[in-house]
Formats: sequence, C-alpha cells, structure tokens
Amino acid sequence: MEDPRRVLVTGAASGIGLAIARGFARQGHAVLLADRDARVHEVARELGAKAHVVDLADSAATVALARAAEAALGGCDILVNNAGVSPKRNGLPPTPLEVPVEEWDLVLRINLTAPFLLCRELLPGMLKQRFGRIVNIASRAGRTFVGPAATHYAASKAGVIGMTRHLAGLYAAQGVTVNAIAPGRIETPLSSTSSAAVLDAAVAAIPAHRLGTADEIADAALFLASPGAGYVTGVCLDVNGGVFMG
Ligand SMILES: NC(=O)c1ccc[n+]([C@@H]2O[C@H](COP(=O)([O-])OP(=O)(O)OC[C@H]3O[C@@H](n4cnc5c(N)ncnc54)[C@H](O)[C@@H]3O)[C@@H](O)[C@H]2O)c1
Repeated sequence: MEDPRRVLVTGAASGIGLAIARGFARQGHAVLLADRDARVHEVARELGAKAHVVDLADSAATVALARAAEAALGGCDILVNNAGVSPKRNGLPPTPLEVPVEEWDLVLRINLTAPFLLCRELLPGMLKQRFGRIVNIASRAGRTFVGPAATHYAASKAGVIGMTRHLAGLYAAQGVTVNAIAPGRIETPLSSTSSAAVLDAAVAAIPAHRLGTADEIADAALFLASPGAGYVTGVCLDVNGGVFMG
C-alpha cells in the first residue's frame, strides 16, 4: 500500500471523474469529490470520501474550493482537474460561426480557467512540502483536429495541455509533477450527448474498434499520480485506442 495521500478530484459526480475518485479511494487515499451536481454527496458517501458542491464557472467559488479541500483533507497532495463541458446542438457540436461569446467564455472558464485557479491555489502547499501531483484531463481534441468537437472545446483543451507543460517545467525541481491525459472517445454521460451517427463513425475510425472506459482513464491518472511516476512530467498521455498517435 502506498502512503495515503490527500486528493481533490473535480467533476467527480459522474463519468471519468467518478472513476478516478473511486480508484484513489480504493487505494486508501483521502479523497474530496467536487462537482456542481449535488449528487456528489451521495457518491462520496458510497466511497467513504468527502464532497463539495461548486460551480467551477465561478472563479471565487473555485478559489474557495481549494481552501475547502485543504481544510477538509488537511492539505492537498494530488489535484485532478477533470471537470469539463462540451456544449452540443442536437447531439452535434456548434460550428464556430454559431458560438456566442458568452458560450465561448463559459467553456473556457470551466475547462481552462478553473484548472489554472486550482493549480495556482494548491501549488504553494505542494511546493512547501516538496511533493505534489497534478493531473489535468485534456482531450484528443486539444491534440489534433477532431470534427465532432467544437472550437471552444478544442481551444480550451489545447490550453490545458500548454498550461500543463509550462507548470511542469517550472516546478519539476521541487517535487511537483504536472501531466495531462488526452482521452479519445470514452463511454460516459458526456459522450452520450453525441448523436448515434457521430458515435458509430467514431467507433469505426478507432483501431481498437470500441470506445474507451472511464476506468481506463482512471488507471492512467492513478499511474501519473503514483510515486513511481516521479520522473514523468509535462507529458500528455494519449488514451484513445490508437485513433491518434502523437
Ligand atoms: N467522455 C469522453 O469521450 C471524453 C473525451 C475526451 C475528454 N473528456 C474529458 O474528460 C472530462 C470528464 O468528462 P466525462 O466524459 O466524464 O463527462 P461527464 O459529463 O460524465 O462528467 C463531467 C462532470 O463534470 C461536472 N461539471 C461540469 N461542469 C461543471 C462546473 N461548472 N462545475 C463543477 N462541475 C462541473 C459535471 O457535473 C459532471 O459530473 C472532461 O474534462 C471532458 O472534457 C471526455
């Protein structure tokens, strides 16, 4: 059993975030699940973990989440920035020509600004103790052109990857690693907002001929957060069944 760590996972009420939180809880770590969905309380109870309801579109509430995590867990060793949104119109991504600036801002606030704020707020504690692990959930759409993703979503996820590299370089000498995961198509409530035609086309193009599972992303996150990954920093790990090989 590894040393128990104190872990904050955002977007942990469902999908990939829930699988990641479950994985850490099973390993015996203390976990705080954050989500805007109040069902996060019930989920956390089942895992023997703690919960915090927050709207990550709200910067002040996001900063308050960092303080709440430190208070609830007694500090934070591992931060997983997982929460994300991908607005659709009838199962299809909006074209760039139909995205109002309010929607652009909202996607960037949730997918990129909130992860930045949580890094900004929790890094000082990690640097002080000379240990920290940050795992940012990006997307294949931040790595290459993905037709069924929207422009704001792709831009936000490319931003997450750039932020990951920059923070990794700054803090590598101080015991803090910062990495990203770029999932391909994963079976979750978010991916099921795509139309059946979009999903069928996606599966046909994946060399593995199937969607990925949330547990497969959780396994990657657990590895990047583990003591054995101490020399891995600044990477963006593609977990996509072979559909994009960076
Ligand atoms: N599912 C996929 O195919 C896929 C592919 C690539 C990347 N991703 C990324 O993985 C991450 C998780 O996606 P998922 O598929 O599990 O989605 P999901 O919709 O199942 O879960 C996302 C969770 O984030 C929460 N959330 C959304 N907006 C929030 C906000 N403003 N404040 C607090 N919580 C908020 C939701 O309530 C939900 O519980 C996202 O960042 C997504 O972009 C998913």
